[in-house]
Amino acid sequence: MRQEPVEEDLWDLLESNRTKPYGEKSNGGKLKLPMRPDPQLSGAPRIHRDPSKIPPCIRGPLRGVCRGETPWPVTICGDPGTGKTRAALVVADFVHGSQWFTWDDFVRKCNTATSGKLSVQVGTEDKIFDWERWWRYLDQSHLLVLDDVGCRGVVSEAAYEVMKTALDRREGRGLIFTTNLDVNKIADIFDARVADRLAAGTLINATGGSLR
Ligand SMILES: Nc1ncnc2c1ncn2[C@@H]1O[C@H](COP(=O)(O)OP(=O)(O)OP(=O)(O)O)[C@@H](O)[C@H]1O
Ligand SMILES: [Mg+2]
Repeated sequence: MRQEPVEEDLWDLLESNRTKPYGEKSNGGKLKLPMRPDPQLSGAPRIHRDPSKIPPCIRGPLRGVCRGETPWPVTICGDPGTGKTRAALVVADFVHGSQWFTWDDFVRKCNTATSGKLSVQVGTEDKIFDWERWWRYLDQSHLLVLDDVGCRGVVSEAAYEVMKTALDRREGRGLIFTTNLDVNKIADIFDARVADRLAAGTLINATGGSLR
């Protein structure tokens, strides 16, 4: 004879220690990145970068987060010329399956995806992505680098949406921002929710003046 399910009070059940947490375990936002032994350019620009020239103020904290010692996302803040872009490029070169974009280009790509028309080369094929497929494609990458966030100090609704989506979809996964803004300014031009998510990750202050 089929047994009817026993009706149980939801809260009795939740407090009974018989239920388990759901979703991927985040380890406090920390995750070690898989590195490859030889660098590969992927879609990043070909400008010169030298791992040995990453300034110490960036090197130490960036190494820590890549090793899973401090939480993602990483925000490298600092004045022009302090080595932020090159440091992020070095990491992208050595991480298997990384994606690198300038912030403005990434927002443009996301906008095109919103209208279902983003063309992306996957292997030898060009594929057309909408917003969801585009983010699902990016989900497969171990690292997403977004260079020069908020460089003109204005944020459109679309750019806000992109920032919030990147932060929430890549929670506890490889995500590096570089910016000339400090976190207070980011809170001004985005909002407190974005600033709070960045502050929960690893903030790196690139100091020491321009290396140009
Ligand atoms: N790791 C590195 N390898 C080679 N050159 C470097 C490196 N780091 C800094 N430099 C030198 O410093 C200059 C500035 O570096 P980079 O472009 O990374 O600065 P940035 O902080 O991104 O500047 P901006 O805020 O203007 O974008 C480079 O043009 C290069 O000459
Ligand atoms: Mg730069």
